[in-house]
Amino acid sequence: MRKAANYQSGRIFSDRRWKIPFFVSLLVSITLFTVTIFGLYSSSYGRDELQVDIVSFENSEDLDGYFVESDLMKSFKSNKASKTEPPRFAYLISGTKGDSQRMMRTLQAVYHPRNQYILHMDLEAPPRERLNLTLSVKNDPTFSEVENVRVMSQSNLVTYKGPTMIACTLQAIAILLKESSNWDWFINLSASDYPLVTQDDMLHVFSNLSRNLNFIEHTQIYGWKLNQRAKPIIVDPGLYLSKKSDIAWTTQRRSLPTSFKLFTGSAWVILTRSFVEYCIWGWDNFPRTILMYYTNFISSPEGYFHTVICNTEEFCNTAIGHDLHYIAWDSPPKQHPRSLTIKDFNKMVNSSASFARKFHKDDPVLDKIDKELLGRTNRFAPGAWCVGSSENGADPCFLRGNNSVFKPGPGAERLQQLIGNLLSEDFRSKQCHTQ
Ligand SMILES: *[C@@H]1O[C@H](CO)[C@@H](O)[C@H](O)[C@H]1NC(C)=O
Ligand SMILES: *[C@@H]1O[C@H](CO)[C@@H](O)[C@H](O)[C@H]1NC(C)=O
Ligand SMILES: *[C@@H]1O[C@H](CO)[C@@H](O)[C@H](O)[C@H]1NC(C)=O
Ligand SMILES: *[C@@H]1O[C@H](CO)[C@@H](O)[C@H](O)[C@H]1NC(C)=O
Ligand SMILES: *[C@@H]1O[C@H](CO)[C@@H](O)[C@H](O)[C@H]1NC(C)=O
Repeated sequence: MRKAANYQSGRIFSDRRWKIPFFVSLLVSITLFTVTIFGLYSSSYGRDELQVDIVSFENSEDLDGYFVESDLMKSFKSNKASKTEPPRFAYLISGTKGDSQRMMRTLQAVYHPRNQYILHMDLEAPPRERLNLTLSVKNDPTFSEVENVRVMSQSNLVTYKGPTMIACTLQAIAILLKESSNWDWFINLSASDYPLVTQDDMLHVFSNLSRNLNFIEHTQIYGWKLNQRAKPIIVDPGLYLSKKSDIAWTTQRRSLPTSFKLFTGSAWVILTRSFVEYCIWGWDNFPRTILMYYTNFISSPEGYFHTVICNTEEFCNTAIGHDLHYIAWDSPPKQHPRSLTIKDFNKMVNSSASFARKFHKDDPVLDKIDKELLGRTNRFAPGAWCVGSSENGADPCFLRGNNSVFKPGPGAERLQQLIGNLLSEDFRSKQCHTQ
C-alpha cells in the first residue's frame, strides 16, 4: 500500500516537474502581456491628459472606445464620415400590472431591426399578463425573424424608489451584453414613455456622435440637501419579500460618504456600452461598492449611475447632463411628473427631445404623435428598412430592406439641434461639476 502511495506521489511529483516551469513561464508571459497592455493604456492616459486638444477622433477609435476624446465637438461637427458602421441601441422597456399593451405599443414605436430590445414585466403583474406579452412578442413575424426582442423570463419584484429597480436594470443590461455583442447605447424606457422621433432619426443623428457620450442628467447633492437625501437609511422589502410593499425607513441615520461625492438626476438614461460594461464588470470594484452603498439610499435609481460616472475619471468627461426626455413637472413639483396630453404636443415637439413621458394608456396625444411625428399607421414607425408595398394600407415593414440605410425626417433635424447645444462648450463645462 505504502509503496503504491509512494510511487503515486513520485509520479505526481515527476508530473509536476515539467508543469512548474511551464506554469512559471506562462505566468511570466501573461505578466509581460498585461504589462504591455497596461503600459499602452497608461501611456495613452498620460497623453490624453497632456495634449487634451490634439487627440483626434481616429485615435480614440483605436483605443477601443474607453477613452474620451476632448474635441468631441469637433468630431461632431466635422464632416468626416465615420469608418465604423452605424450605431445600434439596446432598449429596456419595463412595466407592471396592466402595462402589457402599453409596452407593446412603445416597443413598436421604437422598433428597428438594428436594435436590441428587452422587456421586463415586474412580479406584480399576473402570470397571465406576462404570458400575453410573451405571446404577443412570439407571434410577431418580424420579431421572430429578426430575433432582437426578448421578454425577461425572470420577473423581479421592483419597489418604487428602491434599489430593486437598479438591480432589475443591471440584470437587463447584463442579459443584453451577453446576448448581443453588437450595440452601442443602452436606453431605459417605461411603459408610459413614448418616442417623439423615429429610430431612423435617432440612428442617423447618433451615427455622427462619439460612441463615448453618456446622456445622463446629473447634479451634485450638496448643502442642506445632503442631510435630507444621504443620511436616511431605508430598506427595500423587494430584496427579501415576495409581495410588493413600500420601502421601510429606519430610525438610524448615517454619516456622509467621504471617499466619493454624491450625484443625483433623472432615472432615465442613455448609457454607452463601455460605461455599462464597467458597471457590470466593475474592474476596480467601485461600481459594486457604490451599488452596496445605494442599497439603503432613498431613490437610488436617481443616483446610482450618476454617482458612479461622476466619480470615475475615465468616464466623468463623457456625461452629458440631459436625458433626451421631455418630462413636465407641476410647480411646485409633485412626486410624479404630470401626465402629458394633447395640450403639451407643441411643447414636446419644441423640446426636440427623443422621448417624452408620461402618458396615460391610449391617450389621444399618442395617436397625434403616431400620425404627425412618427408616420406610424401600422405596427411600426416606418423607416428606410421597410421596403414593402403600402398599398391598401398594407404594412411596408413586412418586407425588410437594408437596415443600415436611414431616412431621417424633421425629427432628426430637431434632435441634431438639441445635441449640438448639449455639446457646446458652455454646456459641457458643467459636466460632473462639483461645489
Ligand atoms: C453625418 O455626417 C455625414 C457625412 O459627412 C453627413 O452626410 C450627415 O449629414 C451627417 N449627419 C448628421 C446628422 O449630422
Ligand atoms: C393580450 O390581451 C389583449 C387584451 O387584454 C388581447 O386583445 C390580446 O389578444 C392578448 N394577446 C394574446 C397573445 O393573448
Ligand atoms: C430605468 O427605467 C425605469 C422605467 O421603468 C425607471 O423606473 C428606473 O428608475 C430607471 N433607471 C434605473 C437606473 O433603473
Ligand atoms: C420653442 O423653443 C424656443 C427655444 O428653444 C422658444 O424660444 C420658443 O418660445 C418655443 N416655442 C414654444 C411654442 O414653446
Ligand atoms: C446596406 O447599406 C450600406 C450603406 O449604404 C451598404 O454599405 C451595405 O453594403 C448595404 N448592405 C447590403 C446587404 O446591401
